[in-house]
Amino acid sequence: MLNSEHEAVATNLLKKMSLRQKIGQMAMAERLSVEPADVKRHGLGAVLSGGGSHPGGNAPEDWVRMNDAFWQAAMADDDAPGIPILYGCDAVHGHNNVQGATIFPHNIGLGAAGDARLVAEAARVTAREMLDSGLDWNFAPTLAVVQNCRWGRTYESFGNDPERVASYGRHYVEALQAEGIIGCVKHWVGDGGTRHGMDQGETTLPWQELESTHVAPYYPALQAGVMTLMVSFNSWNGEKCHGHRFLVTDLLKERLGFDGLVLSDWDGVNYLDEDYGTAIRLSVNAGLDMFMVPERWREFIDALEAQVRLGHVSTARIDDAVRRILRTKLRYGLFDMPRPAQRRGAGTGCTGSAEHRDVARRAVRESLVLLKNEGGLLPLGRHQRMLVAGKNAHNLGHQCGGWTRSWQGETGNDTLEGTSIWEGIRELAPHAQLSADGTGEDADSREHEVALVVIGETPYAEGFGDIRSGDALVVEAGSTVNGLMNPLEPYARSLELAESHPEDLACIRRIAAKGIPVVVVLVSGRPLAVGRELAASTAFVAAWLPGTEGGGIAEVLMGNADFKARLPLPWPGDADPDGAWPLFPAGYGLSYSRGGCGLLGA
Ligand code: GLC
Repeated sequence: MLNSEHEAVATNLLKKMSLRQKIGQMAMAERLSVEPADVKRHGLGAVLSGGGSHPGGNAPEDWVRMNDAFWQAAMADDDAPGIPILYGCDAVHGHNNVQGATIFPHNIGLGAAGDARLVAEAARVTAREMLDSGLDWNFAPTLAVVQNCRWGRTYESFGNDPERVASYGRHYVEALQAEGIIGCVKHWVGDGGTRHGMDQGETTLPWQELESTHVAPYYPALQAGVMTLMVSFNSWNGEKCHGHRFLVTDLLKERLGFDGLVLSDWDGVNYLDEDYGTAIRLSVNAGLDMFMVPERWREFIDALEAQVRLGHVSTARIDDAVRRILRTKLRYGLFDMPRPAQRRGAGTGCTGSAEHRDVARRAVRESLVLLKNEGGLLPLGRHQRMLVAGKNAHNLGHQCGGWTRSWQGETGNDTLEGTSIWEGIRELAPHAQLSADGTGEDADSREHEVALVVIGETPYAEGFGDIRSGDALVVEAGSTVNGLMNPLEPYARSLELAESHPEDLACIRRIAAKGIPVVVVLVSGRPLAVGRELAASTAFVAAWLPGTEGGGIAEVLMGNADFKARLPLPWPGDADPDGAWPLFPAGYGLSYSRGGCGLLGA
């Protein structure tokens, strides 16, 4: 619904703006490539932090100081109309860039938890911690409907059920925006449906299937008034979404009536044409409004101005894009807000608070899926003599995964504040012992009556997490594979965990061979083929990427809470190329109370 006062203000501003000032609003620069003075001189519309890009010190107050400088520059009195600047970042599982933040389970774990209200709670906490940093805009939620767990961004999806993704997307957006942060649904459209799960690859589907699986999950969030949307790197039936006029203008803007701001992804225009001006023309004319051009923002402004002067882009299209940007800033109340340092939510000190961590720990408890529990080995007894082993038992970086403090994630415990799985166990089981080097070499059936082995993946983000083999290693024409953001060398070439991380199976077998029953906890961004690990263990739990509150896992393993979660997508068998025949179906999950198969409704 348009606000006539906002439209009048936007009209008035447009009349005062030069073409370059209008185009400046269409540019989003990365913080490392822009000074506050540039923001004023070029009238930039927004600044972002890419994954892990943070101001020195990286405390909330450092973020406030940083955005305050950009905002002050944008509003400095001089001849150009003062248009306040937006600052955006990827707070995709909590305010994951900033030191000391509460890190939630990634979306795949929230999808397993199956509770839309929990998703809303996570969004509220994330918003409060972003406001504490003086920020405005979150490039979340991801509304990908993952179809192939080889995809490196599987963990950013709520799962493979379009209706669940639709519901969680709406709940997340409503809570985030109600708390005072602009939402951004992404990536439009079909990012989870690419061939072989290749990130930024080709989604080949008839319109009916694209609509029912990948477009429909956006409807509730659009109807709920999400203010921005980000276009996807992938292509649909051979045409890049960043240049797709039907998807962006005909469908999104005209048929669905989206009147907010359409944002490109990171240099997403680059892949439309080798000539930068042509690439920009194609994307602007397709209907994108603001362009994430982290380093090339000067070149972008010059190139788009040239395209307009040449008549290849109409001034009407420029005015439409800038009106949408101004409308979004007016809707958000940005023109009426004080500078970031004086905003109500800034500097509250809520980042990483005990209250927020309690919410995240509940999310951890409710995200765990019990896949096997022979002989009722679980729950563990608090006085059991237990050995805790495995590379992911005491590693906050691994349990948080990608998009945590750095783009590709961290390893170890030095850079994050939270509770590792081992630390959670130690709090509840006084006789537990941590294996010296994590390998379980020190297991001894005379000392240990049970072992907990925490295994799985090491952190990755985006294409760096793809699992590719065979013809999926062939660079497709027009794909972005083998580019900076999407390397040809994948995380692994097989879904089998024992291929990519043989140390895990070795650890389980080493301990089991001594007659000690093993409980396995898998820390991973997705289902993996773990037939051998399952066979060697007595109990097996999928923990996804739980975040900083590993204590939630200990609470469930020790029986202080029951398993609730169900698989948010099918779990592949061993010789399963693309998840065609699952070992466990979506909806599977055991629990202490039921004991049997936890299929939904059973
Ligand atoms: C990345 C991602 C997108 C993110 C953006 C900014 O390439 O595709 O999800 O919001 O860049 O970090």
